[in-house]
Amino acid sequence: MTHAPNPARDRRRTVVVGTGAIAGAHAGAVAAHADRAVVTHAVDLDAERARAFAEKHGIAAWGTDLAEVLAGRPDLAHVCTPPGSHLPLAVQCLEAGVPVLLEKPPALSLAEVDQLIAASERTGVPVAVVFQHRFGGAGRLARRLLAEGADGSGIGRAHVAVCDTLWFRPEPYFAVPWRGLWEVEGGGPTLGHGIHQFDLLLALLGPWQQVSAMAARQARTTDTEDVSAAVLRFERGTIATMMNSLLSPRETSTIRVDADHATLELEHLYGYGDDAWRFTPAPGHEGLADVWAGGLDGAPSGHSAQLGVLLDALDTGSPLPVPLAEARDTMELVAAVYASAFTGRPVERGEIGPGHPFYTRNDGDGAPWPPLKP
Ligand SMILES: NC(=O)c1ccc[n+]([C@@H]2O[C@H](COP(=O)([O-])OP(=O)(O)OC[C@H]3O[C@@H](n4cnc5c(N)ncnc54)[C@H](O)[C@@H]3O)[C@@H](O)[C@H]2O)c1
Repeated sequence: MTHAPNPARDRRRTVVVGTGAIAGAHAGAVAAHADRAVVTHAVDLDAERARAFAEKHGIAAWGTDLAEVLAGRPDLAHVCTPPGSHLPLAVQCLEAGVPVLLEKPPALSLAEVDQLIAASERTGVPVAVVFQHRFGGAGRLARRLLAEGADGSGIGRAHVAVCDTLWFRPEPYFAVPWRGLWEVEGGGPTLGHGIHQFDLLLALLGPWQQVSAMAARQARTTDTEDVSAAVLRFERGTIATMMNSLLSPRETSTIRVDADHATLELEHLYGYGDDAWRFTPAPGHEGLADVWAGGLDGAPSGHSAQLGVLLDALDTGSPLPVPLAEARDTMELVAAVYASAFTGRPVERGEIGPGHPFYTRNDGDGAPWPPLKP
């Protein structure tokens, strides 16, 4: 069955703020839900970039003045600017009464996430954070089977997990002024790249409890790390390892979880479909293969999948995904990886708060290597 799209006035009106590389994924996501939403404005500090973006995506209006656009009370602002501007721009939207879909990482530090939470509570306007890997059909199925495992059904308890983000970013990638600097990017692959994968790992396994980590700047002209590694214990007992690298020529993003009754594996790069997952039942539990295969719905991960759930939540008044409180758990793990790596000690969840050096900056009192970035 087909139906004609609603006229624009009946659709959610959204604005894209920051029209660089990732903004296209947001415009594409809205286009994928064209019967429910429309991008009405493109805003960028660079007027020409905003104009070209608007033209490419068929957006009616563009400009550099966010306040003016917010005065029209759009239904949603997609904040797609570099991380150092996320907090002030998101707060500006909230104060104008406009809900925010905020690109990852939501902010530069755990302290900034807490400021976002406070602003959202004060204004009563929600912020959702982009973690699009949570929203593929197979990821949601895996989460359900593991959550059921916590109470003895599903695929049982998860005991072992491996989470690797092995990507390659050559030197020119860091030429952009906001990359590779603690002050404006907030961190290297731990905060900016591996965060997608270990956010999904947290969604699958529940709260983490303790982390021990190492980080190094091995090869790039950055102030931030270009590799980090960690060992984690989860509240439910799972032991996991995690590697975040920008120095890996054969790139891959992988997660493996070994539970009582099955092994779940994901191998992809920037997004997955059903085929990227592999399900291996334990001996005696072969019937679970049918449960897995029967639960797959073919929906790939990505911005469109997350936006669909977000539009449903706007319709029903439920919390917008991924809520700040859940994004905070992920950002707390980021801060803890840096804190453990730079102090040489294990870090417990809940340890990093106001007064802790890694609460306001992911490099704490300074990384253990000299600055290099010009
Ligand atoms: N979810 C994902 O898969 C994914 C992938 C890539 C990047 N990202 C995230 O998206 C964000 C943007 O990354 P990018 O690669 O698109 O950056 P980019 O540098 O390509 O684009 C950023 C744009 O924001 C504009 N801008 C900067 N400050 C602004 C302000 N105050 N007001 C309006 N416009 C402003 C810039 O002029 C530029 O056009 C980052 O947080 C990044 O981590 C997410």
